[in-house]
Amino acid sequence: MPPLLPQSSLQPCVSGDRNCRELTVTTASVKTNNVYLPAVSLARALSKLGFCSRTQAESIIAGGRVTVNGVPAHNAAQRVDMEKDRIAVDGTEVATKKKFIYILLNKPTGYITTRVDERGRETIYDLLPKTDQFVFPVGRLDMDTSGALIVTNDSQLGERLTNPESLCPKSYRVEAEGRLTDDDRRALEHGVLINGGYTTRPSVLRDIEIRESETECTITITEGKNRQVRKMFASIGHEVTALHRTAIGSVSVLGIAIGKWRTLDENEIHRLMK
Ligand code: URA
Repeated sequence: MPPLLPQSSLQPCVSGDRNCRELTVTTASVKTNNVYLPAVSLARALSKLGFCSRTQAESIIAGGRVTVNGVPAHNAAQRVDMEKDRIAVDGTEVATKKKFIYILLNKPTGYITTRVDERGRETIYDLLPKTDQFVFPVGRLDMDTSGALIVTNDSQLGERLTNPESLCPKSYRVEAEGRLTDDDRRALEHGVLINGGYTTRPSVLRDIEIRESETECTITITEGKNRQVRKMFASIGHEVTALHRTAIGSVSVLGIAIGKWRTLDENEIHRLMK
Protein backbone atom coordinates (compact mmCIF):
# COMPACT_ATOMS: atom_id res chain seq x y z
CA MET A 1 0.00 0.00 0.00
CA PRO A 2 1.36 3.46 -0.82
CA PRO A 3 1.90 5.64 2.25
CA LEU A 4 -1.21 7.60 3.08
CA LEU A 5 0.90 10.70 2.85
CA PRO A 6 4.00 11.04 0.70
CA GLN A 7 7.32 10.14 2.31
CA SER A 8 8.34 12.16 5.22
CA SER A 9 10.13 15.41 5.64
CA LEU A 10 9.24 14.95 9.29
CA GLN A 11 11.20 12.02 10.52
CA PRO A 12 9.43 9.77 13.00
CA CYS A 13 10.19 10.80 16.54
CA VAL A 14 13.57 9.84 17.79
CA SER A 15 13.99 8.82 21.37
CA GLY A 16 15.75 11.60 23.23
CA ASP A 17 14.64 14.30 20.82
CA ARG A 18 13.07 16.87 23.13
CA ASN A 19 10.13 17.32 20.80
CA CYS A 20 9.24 13.72 20.28
CA ARG A 21 8.60 10.43 21.99
CA GLU A 22 9.27 7.00 20.77
CA LEU A 23 7.25 4.36 22.47
CA THR A 24 6.72 0.71 21.85
CA VAL A 25 3.08 -0.15 21.46
CA THR A 26 2.40 -3.12 23.62
CA THR A 27 -0.84 -4.93 24.09
CA ALA A 28 -1.21 -7.15 27.09
CA SER A 29 -2.52 -10.56 26.31
CA VAL A 30 -5.75 -11.46 28.04
CA LYS A 31 -5.87 -14.56 30.14
CA THR A 32 -9.13 -16.46 29.93
CA ASN A 33 -9.51 -19.98 31.30
CA ASN A 34 -5.74 -20.30 31.35
CA VAL A 35 -5.58 -19.55 27.62
CA TYR A 36 -3.75 -16.44 26.54
CA LEU A 37 -5.72 -14.64 23.84
CA PRO A 38 -4.11 -12.08 21.57
CA ALA A 39 -5.56 -8.76 22.61
CA VAL A 40 -6.46 -6.89 19.44
CA SER A 41 -8.16 -7.38 16.12
CA LEU A 42 -6.02 -7.26 12.99
CA ALA A 43 -7.74 -4.06 11.84
CA ARG A 44 -7.10 -2.40 15.18
CA ALA A 45 -3.49 -3.54 15.19
CA LEU A 46 -2.87 -1.87 11.82
CA SER A 47 -4.41 1.34 13.07
CA LYS A 48 -2.59 1.22 16.42
CA LEU A 49 0.67 0.72 14.59
CA GLY A 50 -0.04 3.93 12.71
CA PHE A 51 -0.31 2.21 9.34
CA CYS A 52 -3.81 3.45 8.45
CA SER A 53 -7.23 4.02 9.98
CA ARG A 54 -9.28 1.08 11.19
CA THR A 55 -11.76 1.52 8.32
CA GLN A 56 -8.95 1.59 5.78
CA ALA A 57 -7.47 -1.52 7.43
CA GLU A 58 -10.76 -3.37 7.02
CA SER A 59 -10.75 -2.60 3.32
CA ILE A 60 -7.14 -3.62 2.68
CA ILE A 61 -7.67 -6.83 4.65
CA ALA A 62 -10.81 -7.59 2.60
CA GLY A 63 -8.73 -6.89 -0.51
CA GLY A 64 -6.44 -9.80 0.40
CA ARG A 65 -3.34 -7.62 0.87
CA VAL A 66 -2.52 -8.57 4.45
CA THR A 67 -0.72 -11.58 5.84
CA VAL A 68 -0.14 -12.62 9.43
CA ASN A 69 2.99 -14.73 9.91
CA GLY A 70 3.02 -15.29 6.16
CA VAL A 71 -0.56 -16.58 6.02
CA PRO A 72 -3.13 -14.52 4.07
CA ALA A 73 -5.60 -12.90 6.46
CA HIS A 74 -9.08 -12.03 5.20
CA ASN A 75 -10.82 -11.43 8.49
CA ALA A 76 -10.43 -7.95 10.02
CA ALA A 77 -11.58 -9.32 13.38
CA GLN A 78 -8.81 -11.95 13.50
CA ARG A 79 -7.01 -11.60 16.82
CA VAL A 80 -3.32 -10.83 16.66
CA ASP A 81 -0.58 -10.35 19.15
CA MET A 82 1.12 -7.14 18.12
CA GLU A 83 4.31 -8.08 19.91
CA LYS A 84 4.76 -11.51 18.41
CA ASP A 85 2.84 -11.75 15.14
CA ARG A 86 4.41 -10.57 11.91
CA ILE A 87 1.86 -8.49 10.05
CA ALA A 88 2.63 -7.58 6.45
CA VAL A 89 0.82 -5.49 3.84
CA ASP A 90 1.57 -6.15 0.19
CA GLY A 91 4.47 -8.32 1.35
CA THR A 92 6.13 -5.61 3.47
CA GLU A 93 6.21 -6.11 7.20
CA VAL A 94 4.57 -3.38 9.26
CA ALA A 95 6.89 -2.07 11.95
CA THR A 96 5.76 -3.12 15.38
CA LYS A 97 7.40 -0.17 17.06
CA LYS A 98 5.24 2.87 16.73
CA LYS A 99 6.79 6.30 16.43
CA PHE A 100 4.52 8.89 17.91
CA ILE A 101 4.08 12.24 16.23
CA TYR A 102 2.56 15.30 17.91
CA ILE A 103 2.05 18.42 15.84
CA LEU A 104 0.47 21.71 16.86
CA LEU A 105 -0.84 23.51 13.78
CA ASN A 106 -2.02 27.09 13.69
CA LYS A 107 -4.78 26.40 11.19
CA PRO A 108 -5.79 29.20 8.86
CA THR A 109 -9.44 29.74 7.96
CA GLY A 110 -10.49 28.17 4.66
CA TYR A 111 -8.92 24.79 5.40
CA ILE A 112 -10.93 21.70 6.25
CA THR A 113 -9.69 19.03 8.62
CA THR A 114 -10.59 15.94 6.59
CA ARG A 115 -7.91 14.11 4.62
CA VAL A 116 -9.50 14.29 1.20
CA ASP A 117 -12.24 16.62 0.04
CA GLU A 118 -14.36 15.59 -2.91
CA ARG A 119 -14.92 19.29 -3.65
CA GLY A 120 -11.17 19.85 -3.93
CA ARG A 121 -10.97 22.29 -1.02
CA GLU A 122 -7.70 22.79 0.78
CA THR A 123 -7.15 20.52 3.76
CA ILE A 124 -4.88 20.77 6.78
CA TYR A 125 -2.76 17.98 5.27
CA ASP A 126 -1.63 20.46 2.62
CA LEU A 127 0.05 22.39 5.46
CA LEU A 128 1.59 19.50 7.37
CA PRO A 129 4.93 17.77 7.03
CA LYS A 130 4.75 14.62 4.97
CA THR A 131 4.78 11.41 6.92
CA ASP A 132 3.99 7.79 6.22
CA GLN A 133 2.28 7.58 9.61
CA PHE A 134 -1.50 7.86 9.84
CA VAL A 135 -1.95 11.18 11.59
CA PHE A 136 -5.33 12.67 12.42
CA PRO A 137 -6.62 15.95 13.88
CA VAL A 138 -7.78 15.80 17.48
CA GLY A 139 -11.30 17.18 17.69
CA ARG A 140 -12.93 19.54 15.28
CA LEU A 141 -12.15 23.01 14.05
CA ASP A 142 -14.54 24.44 11.44
CA MET A 143 -13.33 25.51 8.04
CA ASP A 144 -14.02 29.14 8.97
CA THR A 145 -12.26 28.88 12.36
CA SER A 146 -8.51 29.34 12.73
CA GLY A 147 -6.06 28.41 15.44
CA ALA A 148 -4.79 25.54 17.54
CA LEU A 149 -5.23 22.07 16.15
CA ILE A 150 -3.31 19.05 17.43
CA VAL A 151 -2.50 16.44 14.80
CA THR A 152 -1.14 13.12 16.00
CA ASN A 153 -1.03 9.38 15.44
CA ASP A 154 -1.53 8.73 19.15
CA SER A 155 -5.09 7.47 19.50
CA GLN A 156 -4.75 7.49 23.29
CA LEU A 157 -4.12 11.24 23.31
CA GLY A 158 -6.93 11.69 20.78
CA GLU A 159 -9.36 9.80 22.97
CA ARG A 160 -8.17 11.61 26.09
CA LEU A 161 -8.73 15.06 24.61
CA THR A 162 -12.04 14.34 22.90
CA ASN A 163 -13.60 12.41 25.75
CA PRO A 164 -16.30 14.77 27.11
CA GLU A 165 -15.45 13.69 30.65
CA SER A 166 -11.88 14.92 30.36
CA LEU A 167 -13.19 18.53 30.47
CA CYS A 168 -10.12 19.69 28.56
CA PRO A 169 -10.33 23.52 28.39
CA LYS A 170 -10.18 25.15 24.97
CA SER A 171 -9.83 28.91 24.62
CA TYR A 172 -11.09 30.96 21.70
CA ARG A 173 -10.69 34.58 20.74
CA VAL A 174 -14.11 35.63 19.50
CA GLU A 175 -15.25 38.60 17.44
CA ALA A 176 -19.00 38.93 17.57
CA GLU A 177 -21.58 41.36 16.29
CA GLY A 178 -23.10 43.81 18.79
CA ARG A 179 -22.22 44.91 22.29
CA LEU A 180 -22.08 42.14 24.87
CA THR A 181 -23.98 43.08 28.03
CA ASP A 182 -23.30 41.88 31.57
CA ASP A 183 -26.36 39.64 31.26
CA ASP A 184 -24.96 38.16 28.05
CA ARG A 185 -21.66 37.45 29.75
CA ARG A 186 -23.36 35.83 32.74
CA ALA A 187 -25.56 33.72 30.44
CA LEU A 188 -22.54 32.50 28.47
CA GLU A 189 -20.66 31.73 31.65
CA HIS A 190 -23.52 29.88 33.35
CA GLY A 191 -24.67 27.97 30.27
CA VAL A 192 -26.91 28.72 27.29
CA LEU A 193 -29.26 26.56 25.28
CA ILE A 194 -27.97 25.24 21.97
CA ASN A 195 -28.94 22.38 19.65
CA GLY A 196 -32.62 22.73 20.57
CA GLY A 197 -32.31 21.94 24.27
CA TYR A 198 -28.72 21.27 25.36
CA THR A 199 -27.42 23.55 28.11
CA THR A 200 -23.73 24.26 27.68
CA ARG A 201 -21.33 23.68 30.56
CA PRO A 202 -20.02 26.69 32.48
CA SER A 203 -17.47 28.73 30.59
CA VAL A 204 -15.15 31.62 31.44
CA LEU A 205 -15.05 34.96 29.58
CA ARG A 206 -12.15 37.36 29.84
CA ASP A 207 -10.36 40.19 28.07
CA ILE A 208 -13.67 41.59 26.88
CA GLU A 209 -13.38 44.58 24.53
CA ILE A 210 -16.67 46.23 23.69
CA ARG A 211 -16.61 48.50 20.63
CA GLU A 212 -19.26 50.56 18.93
CA SER A 213 -21.04 47.69 17.22
CA GLU A 214 -18.97 44.60 17.99
CA THR A 215 -17.37 42.76 20.88
CA GLU A 216 -14.12 40.89 21.12
CA CYS A 217 -13.43 38.50 23.99
CA THR A 218 -11.81 35.25 24.98
CA ILE A 219 -14.01 32.35 26.01
CA THR A 220 -12.81 29.11 27.56
CA ILE A 221 -15.07 26.09 27.26
CA THR A 222 -14.55 22.53 28.44
CA GLU A 223 -16.53 20.69 25.79
CA GLY A 224 -16.50 20.49 22.02
CA LYS A 225 -19.92 20.28 20.42
CA ASN A 226 -20.11 21.04 16.73
CA ARG A 227 -19.71 24.81 16.16
CA GLN A 228 -20.26 25.27 19.86
CA VAL A 229 -18.86 28.78 20.31
CA ARG A 230 -20.75 30.14 17.30
CA LYS A 231 -23.96 28.52 18.57
CA MET A 232 -23.45 29.86 22.10
CA PHE A 233 -23.07 33.42 20.91
CA ALA A 234 -25.92 33.05 18.38
CA SER A 235 -28.19 31.83 21.17
CA ILE A 236 -27.86 35.21 22.91
CA GLY A 237 -28.21 37.16 19.67
CA HIS A 238 -24.57 37.84 18.76
CA GLU A 239 -23.34 36.34 15.51
CA VAL A 240 -19.67 35.37 15.60
CA THR A 241 -17.77 37.05 12.78
CA ALA A 242 -14.31 35.63 13.51
CA LEU A 243 -13.14 32.75 15.68
CA HIS A 244 -9.60 31.69 16.57
CA ARG A 245 -8.68 28.90 18.98
CA THR A 246 -5.78 30.22 21.02
CA ALA A 247 -5.11 27.23 23.25
CA ILE A 248 -5.92 23.61 24.01
CA GLY A 249 -5.34 23.02 27.69
CA SER A 250 -2.14 24.88 28.48
CA VAL A 251 -0.80 24.46 24.96
CA SER A 252 -0.98 27.72 23.03
CA VAL A 253 -0.40 28.65 19.39
CA LEU A 254 1.21 31.91 20.44
CA GLY A 255 4.39 32.32 18.42
CA ILE A 256 3.32 30.01 15.59
CA ALA A 257 2.51 31.93 12.41
CA ILE A 258 -0.83 31.18 10.84
CA GLY A 259 -0.54 28.13 8.56
CA LYS A 260 2.64 26.94 10.34
CA TRP A 261 3.19 24.18 12.89
CA ARG A 262 5.59 22.95 15.51
CA THR A 263 5.95 19.68 17.37
CA LEU A 264 4.76 19.45 20.97
CA ASP A 265 7.42 18.94 23.58
CA GLU A 266 7.47 16.25 26.25
CA ASN A 267 6.05 18.53 28.93
CA GLU A 268 3.19 19.65 26.76
CA ILE A 269 2.30 16.07 25.85
CA HIS A 270 2.50 15.08 29.48
CA ARG A 271 0.21 17.95 30.57
CA LEU A 272 -2.33 17.12 27.86
CA MET A 273 -2.40 13.46 28.93
CA LYS A 274 -3.09 14.29 32.57
N1 URA B 1 -16.64 26.42 18.19
C1 URA B 1 -17.01 26.75 16.93
O1 URA B 1 -18.02 27.39 16.74
N2 URA B 1 -16.23 26.35 15.93
C2 URA B 1 -15.10 25.65 16.10
O2 URA B 1 -14.42 25.29 15.13
C3 URA B 1 -14.72 25.32 17.40
C4 URA B 1 -15.51 25.72 18.43
